[in-house]
Amino acid sequence: MPAPISLDKTPPPAAVRIGLRFRRLLRRAGDRLLPPEVLAWERLMAFATTRVIGALVEVGAIEALGAGPATAAKLGGDLDLDADTLERTLRLAADDGIVARGRGGAWSLTATGQALREAHSPSISFWARHINTDAVQDAWANLAASIRTGEPSFPATHGRSVWDHFAANPDEERLFASSMREMTGLVKAWVVSGYPWPERGTVCDVAGGSGPLLAAILAARPGLNGVLVEAPGVLPEADAHLRGAGVRDRVELVEGNIFERVEASADLYLLKDILHDWDDERSLVILETVRAAMAPGAKLLLVETLLDPDDPNPIAVLVDLHMLTQCDGGRQRSLGELRGLLERAGLRPGETYRTGGPALVEGIA
Ligand SMILES: C[S@@+](CC[C@H](N)C(=O)[O-])C[C@H]1O[C@@H](n2cnc3c(N)ncnc32)[C@H](O)[C@@H]1O
Repeated sequence: MPAPISLDKTPPPAAVRIGLRFRRLLRRAGDRLLPPEVLAWERLMAFATTRVIGALVEVGAIEALGAGPATAAKLGGDLDLDADTLERTLRLAADDGIVARGRGGAWSLTATGQALREAHSPSISFWARHINTDAVQDAWANLAASIRTGEPSFPATHGRSVWDHFAANPDEERLFASSMREMTGLVKAWVVSGYPWPERGTVCDVAGGSGPLLAAILAARPGLNGVLVEAPGVLPEADAHLRGAGVRDRVELVEGNIFERVEASADLYLLKDILHDWDDERSLVILETVRAAMAPGAKLLLVETLLDPDDPNPIAVLVDLHMLTQCDGGRQRSLGELRGLLERAGLRPGETYRTGGPALVEGIA
């Protein structure tokens, strides 16, 4: 039996569930203090938060404030920005709890604002940039068309899938790989401590992005080796990240297509946040492609945030809609739906491990 891995910052799943519910109750109680039309107006203006945060990251104001408090005039001078516009933007960011204004008008980052700095661990600085790209925002803007037609917004808006968009826009592809690394950084402690990873053998992360999860697993299990299968444009990012994480010598990088062939022989295969990018039909093709690489008895681990229709986790609900707008038929699924897909692909469902973040759902060849 492999030794359990324990990491810091991993509150138990029940604590996370209770925390989310309690916050929702507090928010609803606070909402009762305002007239409904004011609340509705405020909700409608929420897009401004995304734009304000994105703009402050993009112009370098967040990074600059990471070095210490500064007035808008000083920041404007240092970064060659319009001080008045910056001051007005920071005011709204203060209302959203990103910055605070001190004596003499100096602005500083709050704890939430600190998380937007690239050097913060974990950080969501690349995510702020990715979410503010036109490609993402325009797809969200077409939600009404999706509701009418049932078609995913990204291809309807941009005339091609998000992956073809990335292949044609390498800067955005790299930005997305970095922002996914950040997203995985938020949950990797749960995933690494939430599963009995083998002490030896090989783990293959299929479509593993730049490798943040694989790097964390290998760091916790020095006797394990890894294979990372990815699209060609992402492999240089993976090479750099795995090198920086000190595990590059234990990882083989393999160019692959999840719809065609996964050339990797491993004891355990991972698909983290992959099935949620695709509809059932294409998810089945992905599962069958991985299954074709698996030896009898090998395991596949789906790492997905579960969407239980009877008790929906608010984060899963939000990610579900993000998948609807950004992918080609992507969606969050319940445990029953994931196990059903595994079975249809000829894999026997094994154990399920729940964490404070995503669940780990086994399928056995
Ligand atoms: C949502 S990201 C998840 C990345 C990683 N598993 C994680 O959770 O950090 C989806 C990944 O699928 C990869 N991908 C998309 N289509 C692919 C294909 N046809 N073959 C291989 N990888 C693909 C993308 O490059 C991207 O890194």
